[in-house]
Amino acid sequence: MDEPKGRLTRDGIRIYEDGDFAGMHAAGAVTARILDEIAEHVFPGQSTGEIDRIITAKVTEYGTKSATIGYKGYAHASCISVNHVVCHGIPGDKKLKNGDILNIDVTVIKDGWFGDSSRMYVAGDKPNRRAERLIQVTHDALMKGIEAVKPGNTFGDIGHAIQTYAESQRMSVVRDFCGHGLGRVFHSPPNVLHYGRPGTGATLEEGMFFTIEPMINLGRPETKVLADDWTAVTRDKSLSAQFEHSIGVTADGFDIFTLSPTGTFHPTY
Ligand code: MF3
Ligand code: CO
Ligand code: CO
Repeated sequence: MDEPKGRLTRDGIRIYEDGDFAGMHAAGAVTARILDEIAEHVFPGQSTGEIDRIITAKVTEYGTKSATIGYKGYAHASCISVNHVVCHGIPGDKKLKNGDILNIDVTVIKDGWFGDSSRMYVAGDKPNRRAERLIQVTHDALMKGIEAVKPGNTFGDIGHAIQTYAESQRMSVVRDFCGHGLGRVFHSPPNVLHYGRPGTGATLEEGMFFTIEPMINLGRPETKVLADDWTAVTRDKSLSAQFEHSIGVTADGFDIFTLSPTGTFHPTY
């Protein structure tokens, strides 16, 4: 790998250069395209393992590598988290049922740059009203977090925007997982918390690259990890949803690297 360029802040956050935004856009566009194209493969009776096989083929077809295959022993090109699974669901033989809601999370590496994004999908008919509402609120919470991104604001401002919105809708923010810096590495400082207080945490600077990926629950925020050491579920078995974008801080705001070329980034029902 090339020697990383640019500088680190006091908080150990890398400041990337103007020319680096293009690499992140190229990686993010592939991730977004895969998330667009996978929608038609989500239906009742489909297994999450088959969805992952289709994703694996697309990762290669589009000239990228999976960031997750081989990462800390993980063996798949996606995480697929169904219903009360919060994140890191392992694709397998289990078949989707009508009305299931699921998050599909894909990270590719293109020319050394990482594109990490996830969205919610629904198997079959519209989900019930509470599930539908959860998906909408989670999506909107992510966008409110992104809108807090500009130089001079802090990571606490991002978390606060997400938390106040989710809680105003009587939903809870998962504390046990967070967003992360990325760029030419998968996970780097900072931890991007999805809750917090205004004005706290590191200050945002132009050239920071990171994800925002709130997990929102209908019930309580607590999670536990199953015996497979990956699958995180809500302790109270309530439904959980997540959306994730990879973004960069610009001179006056933000640049979303994982926007869909078709403009799709919403529940696919
Ligand atoms: N894509 C996940 C994230 O948003 C990380 C998945 S790591 C894996 O950070 F090993 F579980 F795939
Ligand atoms: Co991520
Ligand atoms: Co991800």
